[in-house]
Amino acid sequence: MTTLILAVQHNRDGEHIGAIGFENGKLLTSVPEDMNFFKETTSKIPGTPVTMGRKTYQSIQPKYRPFSGRTTIVLTSDKTATFEDGVIVCHSISDALSRAKNFGGNEIFVAGGAQIYDQCFEMGLVDKVYLTRFFTDIGPEEGNPLVLLKNYYRINPESPDGFTIVNREDIQKSTKGTLYQFLTLMKK
Ligand SMILES: NC(=O)c1ccc[n+]([C@@H]2O[C@H](COP(=O)([O-])OP(=O)(O)OC[C@H]3O[C@@H](n4cnc5c(N)ncnc54)[C@H](OP(=O)(O)O)[C@@H]3O)[C@@H](O)[C@H]2O)c1
Repeated sequence: MTTLILAVQHNRDGEHIGAIGFENGKLLTSVPEDMNFFKETTSKIPGTPVTMGRKTYQSIQPKYRPFSGRTTIVLTSDKTATFEDGVIVCHSISDALSRAKNFGGNEIFVAGGAQIYDQCFEMGLVDKVYLTRFFTDIGPEEGNPLVLLKNYYRINPESPDGFTIVNREDIQKSTKGTLYQFLTLMKK
């Protein structure tokens, strides 16, 4: 099973249109409860594969990469690219997902960014989505362009297209003040 795990935030007009990051690689906001959710969800089975694009991998603080207790798979078109010890480098999504099947249990996580999520949707590869919504306007980096998920319309909880919401938790308030909500969607 291929599972996308992602967080979206209101764009600058206060709507959810699939904003997931800044083009400089930074996350839109840091919500510790969501960071913990990511770690717990991807760490349940030792060696669980977590696949991501090169830009997302390089946006992770060096001390946290590769992810402890999990198998980190990085996608790049650069055949000469090297990363930290332990990282599995792949050059196509199908190769990455096929190699991922050798690790962990039966769930392969895809952790972004937009390029990788969008290709997974467009290739019909997504079985399940863990979606976190942040109900707050984009904050501190006003001049920095946003990275948007083109396929957000498929999992937008207001009107999902091809997916069903199987879990919708109550909106909660982070210790940092951000309102957030966890949802799970499954392919119809
Ligand atoms: N909110 C969230 O849940 C969340 C999660 C993850 C990331 N993010 C944010 O998303 C942003 C990054 O997303 P992004 O879309 O710009 O970049 P990305 O998807 O992380 O990485 C893109 C790179 O992946 C490689 N790639 C893409 N498709 C490939 C393919 N089919 N085969 C081989 N390699 C492929 C290419 O690397 P090369 O250029 O090396 O060829 C490409 O430049 C950051 O701001 C990050 O913070 C947010």
